[in-house]
Formats: sequence, C-alpha cells, structure tokens
Amino acid sequence: METKAAGPGAFARFDLGRVPSPCFVVDEVAVRRNLAMLKAVGDGAGAKVLLALKAFSMWSLADVVAEYLDGVCASGLWEARLAREHYHGHLTTYSPAYKRDDLPEILRLSDSVIFNAPDQIARFADLIAAARERGETFDIGLRLNPEHSEAEVAKYDPCQRGSRLGFPVSQLRPEHLQGVDGLHVHALCEQGFEPLQRIWASLEPKLEAMLPGLKWLNLGGGHHITRADYRKDDLIALLAQIAERHGLQVYIEPGEAIALDAGILVGEILDTFENGLPVAITDISATCHMPDVIEAPYRPAMMGELAEGVAVRIGGPSCLAGDIIGDYVFAAAPKPGTRIAFLDQAHYSMVKTNTFNGVPLPAIALWNSDSDALKLVRQFDYAEFRDRLS
Ligand SMILES: Cc1ncc(COP(=O)(O)O)c(C=O)c1O
Repeated sequence: METKAAGPGAFARFDLGRVPSPCFVVDEVAVRRNLAMLKAVGDGAGAKVLLALKAFSMWSLADVVAEYLDGVCASGLWEARLAREHYHGHLTTYSPAYKRDDLPEILRLSDSVIFNAPDQIARFADLIAAARERGETFDIGLRLNPEHSEAEVAKYDPCQRGSRLGFPVSQLRPEHLQGVDGLHVHALCEQGFEPLQRIWASLEPKLEAMLPGLKWLNLGGGHHITRADYRKDDLIALLAQIAERHGLQVYIEPGEAIALDAGILVGEILDTFENGLPVAITDISATCHMPDVIEAPYRPAMMGELAEGVAVRIGGPSCLAGDIIGDYVFAAAPKPGTRIAFLDQAHYSMVKTNTFNGVPLPAIALWNSDSDALKLVRQFDYAEFRDRLS
C-alpha cells in the first residue's frame, strides 16, 4: 500500500529534540482541523459522525473530540468501557462475535449494539430481553456484507470470499430484521467518495423494500474525508439524500480521518554500518511501534527525506530480520544520536504498539502547533512490559 501522508505540515518546524525517544507527537491543531471538517460533513448532511476508537483512542483528546463529533464507536467491551470512562455522546459497539459473559455490560454501556448475523441476535435474545427488563435502553443493529468489493487490498476487504464480516446481503430476508433498529455497512479502507457511491448504488435496490421499518443506517468507516482531494460536498449530498429518501438517521464512523496527518513518531538513530548498503538501527521498531508497516505493508514517509543522496536502510532494535521500516535518502549516513520522524503515525500505530523483545513503548506527547505548547502526556516504563507477562 502507499502512504497517504500529505507531508509534514506544521511538524516541519517541530524540534525533534524536545521529546524523549521514541515518542508519538500529536498536533492538537491538526486533530481539530480534521474534526472541524468532519463536523461540517455531519452538519451539512444531518448525519451523525462517530470516532472509531480502534483507529485513534488518544483519550487525553476525548473532550476535544466531543466538541465536534456525536460520539464514538467501539469494537468490543474494552473499547466500550474506555468510551464511557473518557469519551462523550453516542456509543455504538460492533464486534464480529460477542462472548455471552461480555454482552450484558456491552448492552448496558452502549446506545447501539450491532450484531454480525441474525442468528447471533436470536441466540442472545434472552440477554437482550433481560437488559431491557432492567430498564436499559439500546438499539439493535445488523452488520451487512454488501458483497461489493471496493477495497484495494484483500486484507482490508470485508467483502472478500469467505469474509466473516457482516451478513451477506444476498441472504437477507425481511424476517431477519425483526427486532432490528438499524443496518451497518463497512466496506471501505482509506477511500474517496466514489467507492462509497458505488457500494450504495449496488446496495440500495436490494435493501429498498426493507428500509422503511428501520431507524438508522450506519455507513461505517474507511472514508478518507479529511484528505485534500475528498469530494466532501458529494458525500454531504449523498448522505442527506439517503436520509431523506428512506427516512433514516445516517451515521458514519471514520477513524483514520480524525487523525490523518496529525501525528509523527520521533526516534533516534542508535547505530549505522555498511552491509551492501548503509544500514541504520533506530529505537523505533516496525514490528513493535508501527506494525502496519509490515502488516499492510507500506513504507511510512520520513520527515525531511531528500530526493537525492545516500539511501539508508532503517530498521528497529528487535531480533526480527524483517523489522525494517524502509530505505530512506539522507545527505550522508546519519550518525548515532540523529533524530528522525515518520509522518502520519497518530492513527493505527499508537493503538497497535506492543513490547515484543522488551522494546520500550513510545511516549505520547501533545503539541499545539499554534501556541507551540508541548505536553508529555504519557511515558511508559519497564512495568508495562513486565505486567503483561507472568
Ligand atoms: C466496523 C468499522 N468501523 C469503522 C472503522 C474505521 O475505519 P477507518 O479508520 O478506516 O475510517 C473500521 C476499520 O476497520 C471498522 O472495521
């Protein structure tokens, strides 16, 4: 995959020596810029916009998120707890499957609980009824697989053959919607408006007759709304049209779009040597700190990379031979102690870190590019590693 990072933005003037290494630095101004764009879409379309916590759950910004968005969406019990502890507004929870033991708390915490198949709703009917008898109020949703592939990479395509994500729309019958308040469709990944338009064009005729009994439609995430080339006006028009034509409250739940180009991961060169090409070891690990580099895979953009010079292979401090971030061009091979930064690391990196090899977790800092105020929000110590083991 290709990085969609637009460039360093305000980080170009951030002194990388101001934070410990490694460290995620998130620019509150950039997050607010993204949130304001998403709010404008929600307001313009009459749609509700939720932050997908799986992408970006830097909860020290929860109050900021609440200034712009309608709430958050969670992927299971722990994100739902985080949502209720720190975030505000509406909470939708969707998981491909639930554990019987977790569901009562999920029902209590959430405003909407979305199931992956009608059978699941039937299997847990007793828990749903018991929660309602206790006076809890929540909607029930059903995730559909639109069976219309638009994702560019199979790994990120919930419509791939054999997908476990959502109930295939070709199997949907009106009786499956008994007790269901809304439908959920998520089939995009880092995409513009056109794929959404095509998915809806293929789905609408199949659903048309079943929509009148429903309250809402959630069109999931994967909308790269805060990218400069996203057709926001067309999105607003489509969402408003869906709401009006079918009498539905429309939701979207972007994650990445909230934190796009809003954070960097700062690291330090620990050593360099020659082995067919210049090689550098850094305290940033692909496998521990930016696992999508290996999983997606993709090559993150590096701040200040030159067009011409010496290509240096940069990798992490772990034992994994494939813990390689990529080859990057410098004026000369960087010396130990040189600070570097990878762009667009606020989403899907901070939420995925791990301590494989006992590699320390990056600190987390919040910067305000307008005021230049910098706050070290969190530093992790040895205990974080030790206490996940026994
Ligand atoms: C169900 C669901 N909703 C929302 C999202 C957020 O997607 P993104 O961060 O790409 O906007 C995802 C991402 O995988 C998802 O699976």
